[in-house]
Amino acid sequence: MNQPDRSPKTAVLAPQTGRLFGVGVGPGDPDLLTRRAVRVIEQAEVVAHFAARRRPGNSLRTIESLLRPEQIIERLEYPVTTEAIPPEAYRELIDTFYAESAARVARHLDAGRDVAVLSEGDPFFYGSYMHLHVRLAGRYPTEVVPGVTAFSAASAAAGMPVATSEERFTVLPGILPHGELVETLRSGDAVVIMKVGRHLPAITEALRAAGRELEAVYVERASFPEQRVLPITDHDGSDAPYFSLVLVPGRRLVAVDALTA
Ligand SMILES: C[S@@+](CC[C@H](N)C(=O)[O-])C[C@H]1O[C@@H](n2cnc3c(N)ncnc32)[C@H](O)[C@@H]1O
Repeated sequence: MNQPDRSPKTAVLAPQTGRLFGVGVGPGDPDLLTRRAVRVIEQAEVVAHFAARRRPGNSLRTIESLLRPEQIIERLEYPVTTEAIPPEAYRELIDTFYAESAARVARHLDAGRDVAVLSEGDPFFYGSYMHLHVRLAGRYPTEVVPGVTAFSAASAAAGMPVATSEERFTVLPGILPHGELVETLRSGDAVVIMKVGRHLPAITEALRAAGRELEAVYVERASFPEQRVLPITDHDGSDAPYFSLVLVPGRRLVAVDALTA
């Protein structure tokens, strides 16, 4: 008769990977961090952040008071910023950079460490985090923590509602060709123009061509101590930083404004 097998059983468990968090840190002021963002950042073993060359990184600056000395900081430094590079070469450089950044984050996840990848504003609204997300989210447990976007902070800073009622609201990158900017601006609906920086003169020209420069408001570094808000017609056209945008309220709001002035 067969004896029951009493030998000790050893379960073969898959090694536990770390978790990936894409964390929106808001527009800059630490007061605009969500409670969930604070909890995730405080608990992560690794905090990863994107940064331009020779710059400390805005997202890290926002959360630096939360960091613990034992946390690992992964600085993911863009190989290029505003240098003029042919589009093909740029695409290749930046693709390689995102692939290498994803591999660096994956090494921590494979070692069982949770990684919080910081993202200015919201991670899925023009955020670099999404380039890691598409490469890693299918392989590791992943959570995205939404954040306050730059345009929300900018309209709050300007005290200017952006869109109402049945108006459409369009987001335009300021790097678009002149014709595309003008065409959208002529529609009369609410528009926010992101990625202003050195494109400010071209954006101002497009606003003028669409007859909307008198309504447009320029906001620089919304929610930072050095924030600036001014009608675009008061800007001398020089020196707009990357962290600036232009708000153009919908015509319905502009009309109400004119009635109550
Ligand atoms: C790559 S996008 C990132 C957007 C971000 N993920 C968000 O949710 O707002 C960068 C652009 O956002 C805008 N931006 C980000 N932070 C800003 C701030 N504090 N003030 C004004 N514009 C800001 C600028 O137009 C900048 O060129």
